[in-house]
Amino acid sequence: MKRIVITGAAGQIGTELAANLADRYGSAAILATDVRDPAEWQNGGQAEQLDCMDLEAVRHTVVRFGADAVFHLAAVLSAAAEADPLRAYRINMNGLVNVLHVAAETGCRVFTPSSIAAFGPETPRDPAPQSTVQRPTTMYGVTKVAGELLCDYYHSRFGVDARGLRFPGLISYTAPPGGGTTDYAVDIFRAALREGRYTCFLNADTRMDMMYMPDAIRAVIELMEAPPDALTHRNAYNVTAMQFTPAELAAEIQRHMPAFLIDYSPDPVRQSIADSWPARLDDSEAREQWGWRHRYELPDMVADMFRGLDSQTARIEAGAAGR
Ligand code: SER
Repeated sequence: MKRIVITGAAGQIGTELAANLADRYGSAAILATDVRDPAEWQNGGQAEQLDCMDLEAVRHTVVRFGADAVFHLAAVLSAAAEADPLRAYRINMNGLVNVLHVAAETGCRVFTPSSIAAFGPETPRDPAPQSTVQRPTTMYGVTKVAGELLCDYYHSRFGVDARGLRFPGLISYTAPPGGGTTDYAVDIFRAALREGRYTCFLNADTRMDMMYMPDAIRAVIELMEAPPDALTHRNAYNVTAMQFTPAELAAEIQRHMPAFLIDYSPDPVRQSIADSWPARLDDSEAREQWGWRHRYELPDMVADMFRGLDSQTARIEAGAAGR
C-alpha cells in the first residue's frame, strides 16, 4: 500500500486510523475524506469532503489521488440506524458498493469493517464461530451481512483484494462513536470525569464483546499487510479482546475513582440490540491465519482511557489559557 484514501475519516475509527497510517506510510500518502466539511475535523494531513454515495465522486477521488487502497469506514451505526433505517441502508450499502466498484475498475485493495452486529439471536452466543448462522435483526446488521457478501462477490467475480474485520464494541477517547449500542463503554468515562456518575442505557449484566482502539487499529493494519495467500476469508474475520458487563466496567472505574456511581435506565431499543448479539466472538481463524493477538484487557484499557482523557483535558485547558 503506497497511496491510501480513507472514507468516514472523521469518525471514531477514522480519526485514529488516519493518524496511524500517516505515521506509518507518511502523510503525503494518506487522503482523509468525510462527508463533513474538513474545516470541522481536519487535524493536519490531507483532507477532503467526499460523499461516498456519489459514485463519480468516489471514482474521481481515487483516480486523482492515485490510490492503491481504500479504507472504507463511512457507515451509520446500530442505534442510529434503527432511528432511520432507510437512510442507514442507503449510506451503508451504496457507499460500499461504490467503493468496491471503483476498486474493481482501478485495482485498489479495500478494507471495510464488519461488526458483531452481523450476527443475530440464532447465532451461538458464546462464542460466535467464524462461520455460522448470520440472521441479524437490526438494519445495521443487515447491511453488514450484505456488505460481507458484496466483498466476497467482488473478490471472486472481479479479483478485488477486499479484506475486513468483524469488530466488537470499540472503546476510545480521541473521537466519539456515532450512535452505536456499545457506546455506553465510551460515554461512561466522560460522564465519570465530568459528573462522577453515569446512567447506563443497558442493564447491569449485559455482557458484550469489546476492544480498545489501539488493538483495533493494529488489527486493521496487520490484516491489510498480511500476504493475500494467507487469507481464506475476504470479509470478514472475527476479532475480539475482552468481554464485560456495565457493572464490571463500573467496578474497574471505581478502582480509579472510588466515589464513582452508576445506575441503570435501560433503553428498550439498545437493550434489545445488545441482547441479539453474541457475548464473544471466536477469533481463532484470525489468530491462526494472520497472527492476530490483542494486547489490552479490561484493567489496562481503563487505566489507559483515564491517562488519555486526562492529557486531552490538560491540552484543552492549556489551549484555552494560551488564548
Ligand atoms: N459498535 C457498534 C455499534 O454498537 C457495533 O459495530 O453499533
